[in-house]
Parts: sequence; C-alpha cells; structure tokens
Amino acid sequence: MRVLGIETSCDDCAAAVLDDGNRILSHVVHSQIDTHRPYGGVVPELASRNHLEKIVPVIRAAMEKAGVGFPSLDGIAVTRGPGLVGSLLVGLCAAKALSFALGIPLCGVNHLEGHLLAPFLEGEPPSFPLLGLVVSGGHTSLYEAADMDSYRLLGETRDDAAGEAFDKVAKLLGLGYPGGVVIDRLARQGNPLAFPFPRALSGSEGLDFSFSGLKTSVLYFVRRRGEAFAQDHLPDLAASFQEAVVDSLLAPLGRAVARTGIRTVTVSGGVACNSRLRSRLAEMAEAQGLRVHIPPPFLCTDNAVMIAAAGARRLARGERSSLSLNAEPDLSL
Ligand code: KG4
Ligand code: ZN
Repeated sequence: MRVLGIETSCDDCAAAVLDDGNRILSHVVHSQIDTHRPYGGVVPELASRNHLEKIVPVIRAAMEKAGVGFPSLDGIAVTRGPGLVGSLLVGLCAAKALSFALGIPLCGVNHLEGHLLAPFLEGEPPSFPLLGLVVSGGHTSLYEAADMDSYRLLGETRDDAAGEAFDKVAKLLGLGYPGGVVIDRLARQGNPLAFPFPRALSGSEGLDFSFSGLKTSVLYFVRRRGEAFAQDHLPDLAASFQEAVVDSLLAPLGRAVARTGIRTVTVSGGVACNSRLRSRLAEMAEAQGLRVHIPPPFLCTDNAVMIAAAGARRLARGERSSLSLNAEPDLSL
C-alpha cells in the first residue's frame, strides 16, 4: 500500500510518501522558522497563511522525490489534531481535495499517535508492552502501550511542554528561536552543576511533569544576578537549565519503569533530538537493562512520515474518514 502523508499541525509543512507501512520513498518538510523568528514563537495567523502558500509545492516535491505519480497512491493520511486550527485546516483541505479528485480513501490521524509510532520507522522495531514518552514543543506526555492502538496516558505536563520551556528560556536569555537547538549546542561547553535550578515535582510519586517553575526560576536568576552576569555565563546557564529539564523528564519515566515493570522505552518528539537527553537515556538503559528506542532526528521533529505510517495501519484495516473530517485542535490520545 502506498500512502501520501500530510502534516500541518503547527509550523512545519510536511508531506511524505510511504510504501508498505514503513518504506520511506520521500519526505519533505518546509520549516517556518524564519517566518516566526522575529516574534520568538509561532504566530498562528502567520503559520496558516504560510501553509497555504507551501502546501501544494511541498506535496509536489514529495511526489517528485518519490518518483511516483498521483494515480499510484492507495490512500491519503492527514493530521486532524491536536494543533493550531488554522494550520490543521490547510492540510485537511489539501488531503480531502486529493482524496476526492483521485477517488482514494482518506484517513485522519492523531498527531500524537504519529509521534508515538515514529520509533517503529527505523532500526529494530520496539516490542510491546512499552512506555512511550512524547516530548515536543506542544506536548510532554507519557503513555503505556500494551499493543498498537492500546494506549494509556500515564502522565503529562501540568503546565508548559518541555520544548516550550527550552524556547521560552532561550528567548529570555536572548538566544534566538527556536531555543532547543541553541541551548543544546551552548550547553556542551557548560557545567550542568553550575547553578542548582529546581526539579519540579521531585518529591512527588506521580508520573506528571512540570516546567513552568523552572522557567520562572531562570527568569528570577537573571533578574537577581543581572543581565551582564547571565550573558557572561551562558554555557553554564544553558547546561544547568538543560540538566534540570532532563532530570524532570527522567524521574517520572524511571518511576513508570519501576511501577509497571515495562523494560522497553520509546522517546520521540522534537526534544528527543536533545543530545544530553539522548546520552542520559543511554546511561539509564545501560544501568537498568532497558531497551530505549529513539528515532533519528528527522523522525523526532514534526514530519509527515509518521503521519503516513499511522494512517497506513488504519487504512489497511479498512478505516476511512469522510470528506466532512474536521480539525480537532484539542484532540487527545
Ligand atoms: O516535535 P516538534 O518539531 O514540534 C511539536 O510538535 O511541538 O518539536 C519542536 C520542539 C521545539 O520546542 C524545539 O525547541 C525542541 O522541539 N527541540 C529541542 C531540540 N531540537 C528541537 N529541544 C531540545 N534540544 C534539541 N536539540
Ligand atoms: Zn509534534
């Protein structure tokens, strides 16, 4: 089965062609980073306008790169939520138009299911049951998956997502946008123990996450010690903040491993690109005998391959979405 995937839930306009559920024929992402950089964050109105300009060229590019024609497609998979409503609608309209014009089935996909399934797309596929941590700019959620389609939310962020914390702290330190990559790079030259930022919910036995207190504590630190001090200590600040984020992600994950006895862990979403998170996860896997699966960076950040993969599974078992399929900005998994 050959599926075209379309993803426009936030600020990436992406299309991909996938054969047989996991063979990637092409994948194209148009990033809107330059559009949103002057504002230090995604501006929803600009995002949807930009999707409108890019969606057709991006789909064309994915088809050309795959070297296949539209008549060879067996189905279309598209993100229906969660995300920004204006952005989602652009992808949905394009997907519906193609499905109607080509007379092939349409399948609406949950973006979070896409992230959860991304670790199955390269390398040795994870085995069930597994613990799946989705950690991105919009989400920080921990799932238990007994099998495909059998997901249970164990914990989630009570406030900001981890990626959002990276972006907001980078903004307040004047490091530009998006923040995760810049902080990751700066932190490599810094001391993670230089400044003791708080680990939220560290006394808790729960499986939730929290990052807004950490962000505020960086803000107060800069106010107390002064801008000049902060600018002189950027690598140490970045490394100390990043270490607090990683600790705050790994503590609930460790508790979930202990509580459920599950030994397979997957981590996906944009923050899964973080080099410190990846190395700490490798240490944790080694120390505790866990199997940790993290996709390559292009499958961690928003992409249409994961949407095509999630949609292909549903299409293969006969699931269809009607042409009245609508965006669901608050869709949960
Ligand atoms: O999955 P994604 O592309 O979009 C969402 O669904 O949100 O994730 C984007 C987020 C941004 O907040 C970005 O700062 C963060 O992922 N990110 C990183 C790194 N690369 C991207 N955060 C930390 N370290 C990185 N290397
Ligand atoms: Zn995402």
